[in-house]
Amino acid sequence: MTKEEKYSELLKTAESLIDPKAGMIANMSNMAALIHHGFGFLWTGFYLAGGEELLLGPFQGPLACTRIPFGRGVCGTAWKEERTVIVPDVDLFPGHISCSGESRSEIVVPVWNRGKIVAVLDIDSRETGTFDEVDGKYLEYLCAVLSCSIDSGLRKYIADEIIPRYDNFDKGHGRDHAENVIRQAMALCVRYDVNPDMVYAAAAYHDTGLCADRKTHHIVSAQIIRSDAVLESWFSRDEIDVIADAAEDHRASLGHAPRTIYGRLIAESDRLIVPETVIRRTVQYGLAHYPELDMEGHYARTVEHIDEKYGDNGYLQLWIPESPNALRLEELREIIRDRSKLRQCFERVYAEEKAELNF
Ligand code: SME
Repeated sequence: MTKEEKYSELLKTAESLIDPKAGMIANMSNMAALIHHGFGFLWTGFYLAGGEELLLGPFQGPLACTRIPFGRGVCGTAWKEERTVIVPDVDLFPGHISCSGESRSEIVVPVWNRGKIVAVLDIDSRETGTFDEVDGKYLEYLCAVLSCSIDSGLRKYIADEIIPRYDNFDKGHGRDHAENVIRQAMALCVRYDVNPDMVYAAAAYHDTGLCADRKTHHIVSAQIIRSDAVLESWFSRDEIDVIADAAEDHRASLGHAPRTIYGRLIAESDRLIVPETVIRRTVQYGLAHYPELDMEGHYARTVEHIDEKYGDNGYLQLWIPESPNALRLEELREIIRDRSKLRQCFERVYAEEKAELNF
């Protein structure tokens, strides 16, 4: 089982385990146990943010220090800098606070709730280099589950009635796409003072309009939301309008900015900027639409398109500055600025895509 599959499983368990009415401490306790025993880490637990320091919360593993000042250690740094911190080797992290001599690497993920960091999740491993971006991504999803306790009735209705509709759409818009957008939207929405149930619904329905056609699907998705009377069990008419507008605005890249934070969250969650994927899609498009071009022609086309859209003055707009897309856009821009790197990446991708075509 890959790390991703394992996390996906834990995520499903977490979603059914977390009880919105039980309060943070009870839910954090089970979350710590779930992750800790799922992976067999050295130490897994939460520090609660209060005033100027972090205070030890529910955990699994050996004894740990009780207080960590703001900005100190890996935990205090993640809190202060409002980001996930991955430490491949604790001996190389200046200011690392050692609670157990056995700890070799560490990851700390902020726990957001309605726009505020309320705690951090800290995990220690006995080996160096245990954690990477995959851990970061899934642990952020898991932490979002703590704060986004989605109404269980709404969750069931969406799982039974809405998600299966994606089975009828094309490969790029199957149920895994819907589920990814929901997870991403949940992880992002906790950074804002918004209603997670509304974000959940907007993310779940955002592409349901694909049952009509590609061109107008965002408008049809909004109509589907407005005419779904079952949603009235959880939302007011005004809230349903906001959800519908958010689904409609997920294609805001076509013109106007999304009208609300809900629309911005869905638009950003629907977008996946991965430097290599961006270059690959551009090459694939070129090979399909301009078969007469030679490699240099394709290179020129690729550079022009990528520069125009993703370059320092590119037209692409990010709707949520804290999104993972913002970080990856910066990575892509570094490649774009360094033409030898861009060329290298292009040549590799181009050769792979050509080989695929000739296969
Ligand atoms: N290593 C952490 C302190 C907490 S323990 O690892 C449980 C840090 O540097 O913040």
